[in-house]
Amino acid sequence: MTVISVLSLKGGVGKTSYALGIAGAALKRGLSVLVIDLDPQGNASSILRSRQRSHSAATVLGHPTADTLRESIAKTSWTGGPGTVDVLASAPELIRFDSWTGNRRFVPKLARALKRLEGYDLVIIDCPPSLGALTREALAASQLAVVVTTPSYFGAQGAERALDEINEIRATVNPDLEFAGIVLNRLREKTDEHRYRKRELIEIHGASVLLKPTIPERVALQQAESTGAPIQSVKSAGARDVTKIFDKHLNKLLKMARKTNVETSP
Ligand SMILES: Nc1ncnc2c1ncn2[C@@H]1O[C@H](COP(=O)(O)OP(=O)(O)OP(=O)(O)O)[C@@H](O)[C@H]1O
Ligand SMILES: [Mg+2]
Repeated sequence: MTVISVLSLKGGVGKTSYALGIAGAALKRGLSVLVIDLDPQGNASSILRSRQRSHSAATVLGHPTADTLRESIAKTSWTGGPGTVDVLASAPELIRFDSWTGNRRFVPKLARALKRLEGYDLVIIDCPPSLGALTREALAASQLAVVVTTPSYFGAQGAERALDEINEIRATVNPDLEFAGIVLNRLREKTDEHRYRKRELIEIHGASVLLKPTIPERVALQQAESTGAPIQSVKSAGARDVTKIFDKHLNKLLKMARKTNVETSP
């Protein structure tokens, strides 16, 4: 089972679109996917039309056992196969678990509950737009961390802060965590400003850190989220463009995960 966190300090950069784009690519490939929505806004849960109402990711953080986790997972409307996509949905109470713990030692809860979960090939955690306790829970439970950003003035800075957080979690509670790379989303290659910001990101972090291909601005992603469908089932040229990109990213992420599994197995 591969666990991937999708994070960013900045809001609205495309974390949820990316997490669900990868989930949709895995669905079409026949994988069993669990999306964990750790964002109290609950965007991923509503796009997936989660039908679970009584249990959520907050239930699991309040009582972090494998049994509670299994009881809290719900089916979604993404049933187009050949794989499956389930969800551990968000709830407004999640915000209670994002509070700053001061100098108390951070003891990961989600990681504990996930340890004994079986039956999934891929777990994708959609993080809130902050580097608080919920994002730390996600990183502590993951093998791979993907940072999403946009070509903007604050994009490179936000990515840098997210990288610091990944390093901190690796050094303290999760030595198996790997930084998978930065996804540059909503790129308009014809815009001078966007080309400049892309170059800036490469200068700061190095070209190899950018997960390629970059993701262009495509209205199909907004159409997909409003209909609650995977981008892979939207019939438009824009949807086909990004579907191909998500496929390539899924390949890369699975390859990286296989590599880290080999390196960390006894
Ligand atoms: N490549 C893209 N082209 C066009 N629109 C996009 C693209 N990526 C994301 N969007 C749109 O931008 C908006 C924000 O995206 P999304 O919700 O995925 O960001 P987020 O980082 O998860 O936000 P938040 O921080 O609030 O959780 C959504 O309406 C989404 O459809
Ligand atoms: Mg989101």
